[in-house]
Amino acid sequence: MTERGTALVTGGSRGIGAAAAVALAADGWDVGVSYRTRVDEAEQVVAACEKLGRRAVAVQAEVSEAAEIERLFEAVTAELGPIRAVVNNAGVVSPAGRVADYDVARLERVFRINTIGAFLVAGAAVRRMSTERGGQGGVIINVSSRGAVLGSANEYVDYASSKAAVDTLTIGLANEVAKEGIRVLGIRPGLIETEIHEEGRLDRIGTTPPLGRPGTADEVAALIAFLASDRSSYMTGSMVDVAGGR
Ligand SMILES: NC(=O)c1ccc[n+]([C@@H]2O[C@H](COP(=O)([O-])OP(=O)(O)OC[C@H]3O[C@@H](n4cnc5c(N)ncnc54)[C@H](OP(=O)(O)O)[C@@H]3O)[C@@H](O)[C@H]2O)c1
Repeated sequence: MTERGTALVTGGSRGIGAAAAVALAADGWDVGVSYRTRVDEAEQVVAACEKLGRRAVAVQAEVSEAAEIERLFEAVTAELGPIRAVVNNAGVVSPAGRVADYDVARLERVFRINTIGAFLVAGAAVRRMSTERGGQGGVIINVSSRGAVLGSANEYVDYASSKAAVDTLTIGLANEVAKEGIRVLGIRPGLIETEIHEEGRLDRIGTTPPLGRPGTADEVAALIAFLASDRSSYMTGSMVDVAGGR
């Protein structure tokens, strides 16, 4: 099997991040996963990666705090060696609601975690990977959402907007670091079966994508593993939808 180096997946304890960690391990990466509170699930992901013959570690870190992101990168590097791929995945949605009813606390939470968190993780990755800073290069995969394009009316326009900012981060950062050995890519999942959805949401709208069903975390993870590998070596600044035609 190809030896690929160390990958870090934020929000790797469950859902898309957990599936991505296992897909990356299957593709030859040693994997660091971060989690916020669900240590048991994060350790299960570590065990699944180890079962595939790779090294893995789980680290608790709040993605919206710069000091915690630094500690996360240091811990994973110390345990597994230099990080060559980062999946910027941790994220939250807001409760369903209309723009007219949003308050500042709600807006600050979703932008702090989804947008500021993504910037902090991307910055920490560039500081370590950039060939201009002594790094070996690498790839950053930002997990956005089809909501960034569709707008998520009557549900969470704030969430959609926080992900649109992540798309712009992908484009701008890709241009900024292309000559420093770093590729930056975005993915936009559609309706994927994970716990992120409010109770009943997938039952209500899960069959509305043109493919007639929600996607699985494994279907997103397969794309992430492809983008992290040198099989996508001529791609940077691209956004790839994995949304069943939605
Ligand atoms: N599922 C979908 O339909 C869908 C569609 C489009 C985009 N996405 C995006 O895909 C990404 C993963 O979504 P998912 O559906 O897999 O979500 P999920 O099942 O709810 O998992 C979220 C993950 O992020 C971690 N996390 C949440 N807030 C955090 C914080 N403040 N600091 C650190 N870690 C935090 C969680 O850790 P704990 O387990 O410890 O809580 C968990 O590992 C998100 O960015 C989401 O916006 C999902």
